[in-house]
Amino acid sequence: MSGLTIAVVGLGFGQDFVPIYLSHPAVATVVLVEPDAQRRAEVAGRFGLRGGFADIADALADPAIDAVHILAPVFLHADMAVAALEAGKHVACAVPMATTLDDLERIIAAKNAAGTTYMMMETAVFGREYLVVEEMLRRGEFGAPTLFRGFHIQNLDGYPVYWQGFPPMHYLTHALSPVLGLLDTTVESVTCLGTGRLPESRRTGGFDNPFPTEVGLFTLRDQDIVADITMSFFQTARAYVEGFALYGEHLGVEWPPDNEGDMTVYRMSGPRPGSRGNQVVKESLAPRDFPERLPEPLRRFVRETDVHLPGMPAPASVGAHHGGSHPFLVHEFVSSIVDGRAPIVDERRAADFTAPGICAHRSALAGGERVEVPQYS
Ligand SMILES: NC(=O)c1ccc[n+]([C@@H]2O[C@H](COP(=O)([O-])OP(=O)(O)OC[C@H]3O[C@@H](n4cnc5c(N)ncnc54)[C@H](O)[C@@H]3O)[C@@H](O)[C@H]2O)c1
Repeated sequence: MSGLTIAVVGLGFGQDFVPIYLSHPAVATVVLVEPDAQRRAEVAGRFGLRGGFADIADALADPAIDAVHILAPVFLHADMAVAALEAGKHVACAVPMATTLDDLERIIAAKNAAGTTYMMMETAVFGREYLVVEEMLRRGEFGAPTLFRGFHIQNLDGYPVYWQGFPPMHYLTHALSPVLGLLDTTVESVTCLGTGRLPESRRTGGFDNPFPTEVGLFTLRDQDIVADITMSFFQTARAYVEGFALYGEHLGVEWPPDNEGDMTVYRMSGPRPGSRGNQVVKESLAPRDFPERLPEPLRRFVRETDVHLPGMPAPASVGAHHGGSHPFLVHEFVSSIVDGRAPIVDERRAADFTAPGICAHRSALAGGERVEVPQYS
């Protein structure tokens, strides 16, 4: 069989990626890796797959597997990525790349030694909202950018213990990466404060973190604008939202307040004759899907869809969260392997997206001390 064999490791969020890989023209098959045997059997049955493994070590020892996509819990990301690179596999990994600077360095070193591909699967720079803002920025519609706001507010009560008390800034990448991608820059330094207080009874995950919410100001290399970012996982009464707003001297774009739907655009022109302040016109913007950037069989996955692929016993519904980004991530990872090039979010860019959150949490623990952020790319 020609084409790549991809192991999907962790079948919570990971199960949404299985039919997308199976539909990619350069992929031959998918191997499932999941310790929960019932979950593995259910996903295998749904997509007409056989076998699979409980333990990633068995997948890494299998010479038929070319690449692994890690969607296991965060605390496993770094060790799994390093082990997979050392086994000579191409690696895609869900965010965050890791939660210590040492682990970022360890993954970069393993990638350099292996010579295979590493990609962090950052949904926030492949979703339709990001892509439409990028287009408007490249067309010069914003004028000089003046402010970026990023936010990720999500309530993690009831999530597994490895999420309880998780330092919000350790999951910064979705809220920060859009500004780094849009302006092609990196973070220089961060000043961050925690707000609110996690009672001891909520700190069951074993993290050094007393904060339900963290708010950071990030200076950007060679840029005049500052990124103002709020990360909140506990004790904050707000529906889930994970997005950004970008403002320039002529145009401002805001994420939908309910996380889905139209964005709001503000166009600012000259002063109104005889009154104070500039004229601002407010419009709704429905971001388009950018199907032309995907191979035809992947285009359907930008929206929730029913699939009935060869070998599947029945049609199955596939979600399309995170701005329809999942097929773009799969295509970028697979085509970077096939073309022998670095993916857009390679190991260095991934570290540029991840290190600022590690440094931000350090700043919050030190009462808002300014922390310099290492640059990797
Ligand atoms: N927008 C995004 O990019 C986005 C969204 C959701 C989740 N995520 C990330 O994706 C990953 C998975 O998220 P989730 O919500 O499915 O998490 P989860 O904790 O609900 O599920 C993880 C899955 O991995 C399995 N697992 C546990 N230990 C494993 C091991 N040793 N080997 C293989 N599998 C193992 C679990 O049984 C479970 O099925 C996390 O790292 C999360 O941060 C990213």
